[in-house]
Amino acid sequence: MATAQIYPSLLAADFGRVADAARAVEGHADWLHVDVMDYHFVPNLAFAPDTVTALRTVTTIPLDCHLMIDDPDRWAAGYAERGAANVTIHAEAVRDLPRTTDAIRAAGARTGLAVKPATPVERYVDDLHRFDLLLLMTIEPGFGGQKFMDEVLPKIEAARRLLDDRGLDLWLQIDGGVNAETIERAARAGVDVFVAGTAVYGAADPAAALEALRGQALA
Ligand code: DX5
Ligand code: ZN
Repeated sequence: MATAQIYPSLLAADFGRVADAARAVEGHADWLHVDVMDYHFVPNLAFAPDTVTALRTVTTIPLDCHLMIDDPDRWAAGYAERGAANVTIHAEAVRDLPRTTDAIRAAGARTGLAVKPATPVERYVDDLHRFDLLLLMTIEPGFGGQKFMDEVLPKIEAARRLLDDRGLDLWLQIDGGVNAETIERAARAGVDVFVAGTAVYGAADPAAALEALRGQALA
């Protein structure tokens, strides 16, 4: 594995100081992870399209929007239009997958496919060419600060093999419970993009915490 990209998750930031949280990792974060939740797909509510527009004015870090919402077909391209550099939709929620990924790409963003821990990747093999990133959730989506699900590790290894065997040039991302205790085994399983919320923004020095995680992932 050549890279270890770290994407701090703003869900773990102080919501009264989101702009400061973005600036705190400038020059360190590869991208910023922006969770979008609708009270329906998950029992929580988070960042609106206007927040993406606002974030674009305070940071040059590319924005990775993770849509945990019903009907992403309707809303995903809007996040790209607001300046997200990647828009990830959940396999469990999307209805017209080709149409939705085409719309995201037409709006100028990369595309991501997310699957919950119990959703098999194999079901979407024939759709993977429509995506630039595959997100394997290592928690049940909805809240930060949960425990990393070790039982997802074999799924990560299998996905890594699948992408390599088929020559699919997708980044393999995980999200949930990534911290100093868990990142090394996830890296060994073949992850190249790590989302980390609590482990970055729960630290006294978010940038230093992020670089420490990267060092561990590359070890
Ligand atoms: C939860 C979100 C995550 C969350 C991860 O559904 O998708 O991005 O912020 O938080 P940690 O890193 O604390 O598990
Ligand atoms: Zn997320």
